[in-house]
Amino acid sequence: MRQITVTEHLLLHQKQEPMATGRLTRLLNELILSAKIISREVNKAGLVNVLGNTGEINTQGEEVQRLDEFANSVIIHRMQRTGMLCAMASEEQDGLIDIPERFPKDEYFLVFDPLDGSSNIDANVSIGTIFSIYKTKYDLQGQVELSQLLQKGSEQVAAGYFIYGSSTMMVYTTGRGVDGFTLDPGVGEFLLSNPNIQIPEQGNLYSVNEAYWHYWDSLTQRAVSIFKDPNSDLGKLYSLRYIGSLVADFHRNLLYGGIFMYPIDYRDPKKPKGKLRLMCECAPLAMVVEQAGGLATDGKNRILDLEPNELHQRTPLFIGSKNDVLKVQEIFEQGS
Ligand code: AHG
Ligand code: MN
Ligand code: MN
Repeated sequence: MRQITVTEHLLLHQKQEPMATGRLTRLLNELILSAKIISREVNKAGLVNVLGNTGEINTQGEEVQRLDEFANSVIIHRMQRTGMLCAMASEEQDGLIDIPERFPKDEYFLVFDPLDGSSNIDANVSIGTIFSIYKTKYDLQGQVELSQLLQKGSEQVAAGYFIYGSSTMMVYTTGRGVDGFTLDPGVGEFLLSNPNIQIPEQGNLYSVNEAYWHYWDSLTQRAVSIFKDPNSDLGKLYSLRYIGSLVADFHRNLLYGGIFMYPIDYRDPKKPKGKLRLMCECAPLAMVVEQAGGLATDGKNRILDLEPNELHQRTPLFIGSKNDVLKVQEIFEQGS
């Protein structure tokens, strides 16, 4: 059987878009190359001395690990040269990442989480890179303002992730369904392995960090309990799966069906909050899940409709199979 590479697939999709100029395709191709380089480093992480903490703390007060920094700088250095971007934003950096004067700029804005699930690196557990691409009103002359870049997830023109697991995969959407590609390390190409991914309408799996149970409000506790109740209207008992790498938990549930939840908790009673970031984690996965027939909400609102006020805004997240997410939403709506 002839295998379709991701580049062929991108070009094929580009031809179907009457207005397409090929710039998004070029942007995605450069991102794919960045991911191949990250994948190579992730795969040899145990062999060379790249493991361990640098001792620095990132903008969200978490420990930065060396592979995060590596992934972050590979993406920045490759993508700033494409001539397609007016700015970037990374989970690892507080403010906007400007494109240096010496490089041409254009209207696309790239937001990414360079290495999601990085606390799992040392244990050889799957990690990933999440990306989100927006078009902006950049006029080639002017400077870009943050306010022009903060857009709802529904404005994304492409989104997806790379997962560095038992194999390396790319899953992406440009708004015409979701396709998955597996990296063949022998030829160095991503080959179409999961065309037109559809998430089952109802799953068997729920994924949440239940250690925070006592820090959740009663509605959240009810929403999570439903998946442990064999007599609920969902009609069955679910199994719990939680890796602690959003990309890996999401990817498994996308293929098998299920729901991933990261609700608000009250570990700091004065500052109840969710952990995951709207722009670099939740919105891109929300676009993927919706394109695959699933749903993503913050409990009440569609994730893709949330207007970000800041780059690193956090949100609660309930994402996955349609019926499972609707059930959670119903509980939150009834309770309010
Ligand atoms: P990151 O490694 O990019 O900082 O993200 C970690 C996130 C996410 O991948 C995962 O779902 C979540 O943190 C796990 O958090 P808990 O340890 O609180 O469950
Ligand atoms: Mn992350
Ligand atoms: Mn990260």
